[in-house]
Amino acid sequence: MQRENFGSRFGVLVAMAGSAIGLGNLWRFPYMVGEYGGAAFIFVYIICFFLLCLPILIAEVTVGRRSRTNAFRAFEVLAPGSRWKWAGVLMVATPVIVVSYYSVIGGWSIEYFIKSCSLDFSSGAGAGQDIGTVFSSFISSTWLPLAYHTVFLLVTAAVVAAGVKSGIERFGKVMMPLLFVIMIVIAVRSVTLPGAGEGLEWLFRPDFSKIDASVCAAALGQGFFSLSVGFGIMLTYGSYISKDENIAVSSAYTAVSDLIFALIASCAIMPAVFVFGLDPREGPGLVFETLPFIFSNMPLGGLISILFFLALIVAALTSSISLFEVGVAYLMEEKGMSRRTASASIFAVTWVLGVLCSLSFGPLSGFKVLGNILFDFFDKLSANYLMPFGALLIVLFVGWRMKKSDIRSEFTNGGTLAGNSRIFPFVCFLIRFLAPAAIIVIFLSNLV
Ligand code: ALA
Repeated sequence: MQRENFGSRFGVLVAMAGSAIGLGNLWRFPYMVGEYGGAAFIFVYIICFFLLCLPILIAEVTVGRRSRTNAFRAFEVLAPGSRWKWAGVLMVATPVIVVSYYSVIGGWSIEYFIKSCSLDFSSGAGAGQDIGTVFSSFISSTWLPLAYHTVFLLVTAAVVAAGVKSGIERFGKVMMPLLFVIMIVIAVRSVTLPGAGEGLEWLFRPDFSKIDASVCAAALGQGFFSLSVGFGIMLTYGSYISKDENIAVSSAYTAVSDLIFALIASCAIMPAVFVFGLDPREGPGLVFETLPFIFSNMPLGGLISILFFLALIVAALTSSISLFEVGVAYLMEEKGMSRRTASASIFAVTWVLGVLCSLSFGPLSGFKVLGNILFDFFDKLSANYLMPFGALLIVLFVGWRMKKSDIRSEFTNGGTLAGNSRIFPFVCFLIRFLAPAAIIVIFLSNLV
């Protein structure tokens, strides 16, 4: 079977950035910043991001492009007959788990977009409390969240079924620029609200005494989630990148756009939170409870609300597409399915898991796994354990199992990229030593 490739450099960038930029930036990053102390968290995050997450991204793309196969087979191709094939199982299983609860949140975004269009939040009625109650009764209801979850997953499956170039790449080329424009408009509105300075100071003036092991672990976990590393996505996308692309540059562009986007999202949200005297430590409800309250009370709030939830849907879609593609590539190449059949199969599995996640807020709330409802269990399992473990396996594989000459050849395009040749020893050091040590230390210190 002829393997597809991304068609252009811009296509590679929008696909990788589209995967990275998602709910992790718009929903998760702002509430993590809120929970872990504002600027201090951002400071640690930026360090972890460039010294650990970016090298891991490069390592993952390297495995993909070198093996030119799906996330399951890649380890077998590069280390035939070894136990590394189990890493491949993890790389395919994690995104399937993630996309099933991710699409539930994607579905909530659709509901909130529709609410915004019907000017539900711009009436000025209702205090934050009421809007919080609206949210909890919505997510704990049975049918509506399921319907939105289904719609969101169907769109994801349809784009993936259309193929790497005609589906994933084309969708990203239209949606990613749109996303940036929308978020910049919202950020400008938020930072120009009277009194926005307090929120900006909270975001950008770190109080270093707040940094501890839990902040480092949270920052690292957020970095993995946001940059889509440790769970097979960038490995799969890497396998679609042609041999003449510069993987260091593509990875760096992806990381920088992902970081900028997370910061823009924080600038769009936090100043407004402070202007309205709300608590930045709202947690996961920040986007669906605090923001609607703000939108209902600020000038131009109705329009901003529509734009924000549109951005949330778009960002979530470009990421869920990448999560979905991992399983589809696996089924196509390992089980000989057509792209359509593979997409339908992954749809079926993730739809059922997503239904269970969605119902875990309502009718199935009594069913607990290790003390968590299923949605929280999937989220914690993937972000706190599967992604760091996956990332650790990737750096150990590239740093210690693959031949150094092979990595060098991928990184420098066979020695033709002089700049990459110069930084190769440093990147190698990060992948071989710093990244594994940091993941283990941060992971263990967070356990005790
Ligand atoms: N990287 C994706 C996100 O940030 C999964 O949402």
